[in-house]
Amino acid sequence: MSAEYFGSILEQRLSRRSFVASAGLLTSLSALPTLSFASNATTLVQKAVTTAIEPTRADTLTLAAGLRSDLLIRSGDALFKDVAPIDGKTLQSLAWLDSEAGKRQEKLFGTNNDALAFFPTGSGGTAGVLCVNHEYVMAELSFAEWPNAGPNRAEARQAWLKDRPQAVAWMQAAHGVSVVQLEKAPHGWRTISDGPLTRRITANTPMEIRGPAKGHELMRTNVDPNGTVVLGTFANCAGGKTPWGTYLTAEENIQDYFGSAKSWADNTQDNATIEAHRRWPLRERSAYGWDLIDARFDVRQEPREPLRHGWIVEIDPQQPTAPPKKRTALGRFCHEGANTILTRDGRVAAYMGDDAKFEYVYKFVSRDRYNPRDRAANLDLLDHGTLYVARFDASGRGTWLPLVHDENGPLNSRNGFASQAEVVIKCRAAADLLGATPMDRPEDVEPSPITGRVYMALTKNDERQTANKVFNGRTVDFGPNAANPRPQNDFGHIVELSEDDSDAASTRFAWNLFLLAGDPRNTQAKFLTDADAIAAGALAREDLYYAGFADRSKVSPIACPDNLGFDPTGRLWVVTDADTGLIGNNGCYVVPTSGPERGYLRQVVSAPVGAEICGCEFTPDGRTLFLAIQHPGEGGSVDAPVSHWPDGEGLPARSAVVAISREDGSPL
Ligand code: FEO
Ligand code: CA
Ligand code: CA
Repeated sequence: MSAEYFGSILEQRLSRRSFVASAGLLTSLSALPTLSFASNATTLVQKAVTTAIEPTRADTLTLAAGLRSDLLIRSGDALFKDVAPIDGKTLQSLAWLDSEAGKRQEKLFGTNNDALAFFPTGSGGTAGVLCVNHEYVMAELSFAEWPNAGPNRAEARQAWLKDRPQAVAWMQAAHGVSVVQLEKAPHGWRTISDGPLTRRITANTPMEIRGPAKGHELMRTNVDPNGTVVLGTFANCAGGKTPWGTYLTAEENIQDYFGSAKSWADNTQDNATIEAHRRWPLRERSAYGWDLIDARFDVRQEPREPLRHGWIVEIDPQQPTAPPKKRTALGRFCHEGANTILTRDGRVAAYMGDDAKFEYVYKFVSRDRYNPRDRAANLDLLDHGTLYVARFDASGRGTWLPLVHDENGPLNSRNGFASQAEVVIKCRAAADLLGATPMDRPEDVEPSPITGRVYMALTKNDERQTANKVFNGRTVDFGPNAANPRPQNDFGHIVELSEDDSDAASTRFAWNLFLLAGDPRNTQAKFLTDADAIAAGALAREDLYYAGFADRSKVSPIACPDNLGFDPTGRLWVVTDADTGLIGNNGCYVVPTSGPERGYLRQVVSAPVGAEICGCEFTPDGRTLFLAIQHPGEGGSVDAPVSHWPDGEGLPARSAVVAISREDGSPL
């Protein structure tokens, strides 16, 4: 590494430390390294994981030796004191699903916990706020007597919901975000109910539409003719934090919530709205049936309502009554998350993935600088800036292509982009015109707070084959490319990106593969150690690469990297969302990104049966790792559970957040 490179790291650390010192009650410390200045990131103390665990299919949370876990909060637990929880026993009948179930759920922790973001309160390291996404509801894991089998189950489910409209209100209230207050007791972290910052945001919470799409014709509905206020957020997958201590929640698979899209399209002359939906197709039969009860989700009634979802939403955990804000400048697509870092000149950059097959990686850079001395001045920084999409060249170089309306460029009114509003609303179509690289389902895209290098999880793409095909409204090359080199990519991979001049504002970058995931125990699989030997199209589905690490007998099998995190020493942590048939239950892994152990990936946690692991969030002292255990028991139901985690034998499974630490209390 060059002296210049370290100069920029030092500069970044200094700028972060200056705002840490001044940011007051809720700093964004957890987004930041809290390190003394070391001359080299690799000299920082990185504790070894002495014994990695083997893949397992046990229905328990399995931990590496020396680690412990504390159960923090489960789906259905009460956030406020005046409400009865929905526990495992309650779930075993439908008695709880009365006409008030939705109202009560607004005070309970939601279902399917996903992203986690920790914001310390005070300076003692013993209190904080955890923002948690509730991505979706799995009816079979929530409702006893849910029609779960049979040839006519789709019709049976519709009839079931029409008989119980309160189930839709309950599902809407179980979505969104929980803001949970935490304190560190002698025996670990615990939640505080009824805290002054405790909050539930649901699929019906009013929120502001901000940025270039605010008020645009495509954002107007019968209920909101001005296109400025939208109800709710849902399908909240991963997220991120800003340097000013706000939470970013990412709206991902919103297409599953709307119904009758074909019936509408077959009978409308509204070509502008048809074109706006082209690259993000909607369904005739929704996945959740909300449209049967709530006209907002029936495309025939409100064909533009889906365009008001699929954004990054900013929530200020310091202001529990402030409306969340949909930041449309960051584009509309299947948002996985938004992870921020400061540019050299103090602006904020957010890295984002569009989690769908053959979709793109994006970056937003704010127009204005972050002000560490004036929190209020930063609260709308995400309304103005430049959105970019990535092109990865086979040379190992790449370009951030600006998604900016320009009558002299491709994003002009003749191509359907008469304004920046249309660019952000039809973001995927705009990115097509610029020649962005179609990726293998981009999940978390996360800059290292130590090196500034950016890591992107490409979770999988079993359709990566060889021909051109029509897919999601455009023709695309399905063949392997340099950045997505494996055919039938069932195991996924991680790409590492270095911005030119180590500056997140750069429009050019270098990139290389960091991981080709898979199973090193499979003797049929080639274990590659030379990055130059990796050629698109020359690899098999099983072939492996662990950032050049040479000893295949030491590294852990891994499939489908999803969320990423960094501990304060700069090691990369990875959690997975794979079909458990590939290797075993999903896991949490740690891997150094520099030094002699670069690429030495080890599994430290295994999830219970059916769960994926999400979150991957550290406290600033590196002593606690929060993980979200999402959908344990997937594949079963309340009536016939395949997992009993965390409540134990005889009870159905529930999603839950856990805090992982070392038994001796030292940093992980
Ligand atoms: Fe909701 Fe991209 O995982
Ligand atoms: Ca995810
Ligand atoms: Ca996922």
